[in-house]
Amino acid sequence: MARKKIFAGNWKMYTVRDEALALARGIVDGITDSPGRAVVVFAPAVHLREVAALCAGSAVMAGAQNMYFEKEGAFTGEISPAMVKDAGARWILIGHSERRHVFHETDDDVRKKLRAALSEGLFPMVCVGELLDEREAGRSEDVVRVQTERALEGLSKNEAAAVVIAYEPVWAIGTGKVATPEIAQSMHRYIRSVVAAKFGEAVAAGMPILYGGSVKPDNIAGLFAMEDIDGALVGGASLKAASFLDIARVT
Ligand code: 13P
Repeated sequence: MARKKIFAGNWKMYTVRDEALALARGIVDGITDSPGRAVVVFAPAVHLREVAALCAGSAVMAGAQNMYFEKEGAFTGEISPAMVKDAGARWILIGHSERRHVFHETDDDVRKKLRAALSEGLFPMVCVGELLDEREAGRSEDVVRVQTERALEGLSKNEAAAVVIAYEPVWAIGTGKVATPEIAQSMHRYIRSVVAAKFGEAVAAGMPILYGGSVKPDNIAGLFAMEDIDGALVGGASLKAASFLDIARVT
């Protein structure tokens, strides 16, 4: 079964309104439809409704970078899954390393957010990845296995089949130090084996696993050539329509 290919831009805390709309416009106008490929932009929450409206009817879908797992309530500063959907977003990024390490999100938060996303009918993209000292200590696989298992804990096979994983080694994010295709491939294959052990071969074989961390137009081809790398989650290079489009064009 051919897995879906996905290219996603994570705009993080960049872009004021005019910049966000110009960026979305540049991507929408420049993208060409490619069968079996999805293109997603994770815009800042305040721009979500307008970015989603601009993307409507195009090959680009909008997503939110974060949300809380409760339906509603006294949670000042948070946005709910229903709000994300109501704004027109289809996708939600969950457990990005900056959420985990800057805002102290735990595996338990990630698990609850994933369940909340699935019950709201949002497409979830769950991020996992080890820190540099964890890699240097030879613990990368253990760290990523625990993050993956805890995120997916308690899901049915059908629910697990709706999840996309993004492997983002923290040492590669925003550093210009992209993982080699071999390092990324080896972790992607390992993540797929972790998913297979819990949910069976069919779910694992169908699950898109994206690589993120210093992806640029000049390194995407080598990564994307690897068997278990199904696309990319792009930070810095997604802030310019031209470079993001160059990356997505690898398909
Ligand atoms: P960079 O592409 O800027 O390294 O960021 C990766 C990332 O965190 C995407 O979510």
